[in-house]
Amino acid sequence: MLDKRLEDAFNDQINKELYSEYLYLGMKAIFADLNLPGFVNWFDVQVQEERAHAMGMFDYVFERNGKVVLEAIDRPDIKGSTPLEVFEQVLEHEEYVTSRINALMDVAEEVKDRAALSFLDWYLKEQVEEESSVGGVLANLKLIGDDKKALFMLDKELAARVFNPPVIG
Ligand code: FEO
Repeated sequence: MLDKRLEDAFNDQINKELYSEYLYLGMKAIFADLNLPGFVNWFDVQVQEERAHAMGMFDYVFERNGKVVLEAIDRPDIKGSTPLEVFEQVLEHEEYVTSRINALMDVAEEVKDRAALSFLDWYLKEQVEEESSVGGVLANLKLIGDDKKALFMLDKELAARVFNPPVIG
């Protein structure tokens, strides 16, 4: 049985993961407009990963005999329009998600739920990977600057990303 505070915190994080999915869907549309199919593919994979993150927690709450409560998902707040601006926001967003996973683990610690802490370890490791992969693309975009040929090459590289359904927990 999940402590009520922890159940609420899981539900809040499910909402944030679904918001992430929605945010990246909005960003995918920006890159479709820019005619950059590799970036579109990168965001398509990102969208699927965020759904998997949300569903991992959704299923876990049920497994622990908790109750899932779905709230409204905010409109995606996309600030920039260039690849560099968008990826700066992606990194900022992933750092925020990392801080929320840490906060969720704080609650699990406070209510002494070691099983939940062990489950959430996967998310913590995933965030390290997310920040690293986004940081890599961002570093490339900074190097590229206004070089259209280099942007074209990066787009080709991002076209190779594939979604591997994660085994969570
Ligand atoms: Fe679900 Fe990108 O963090």
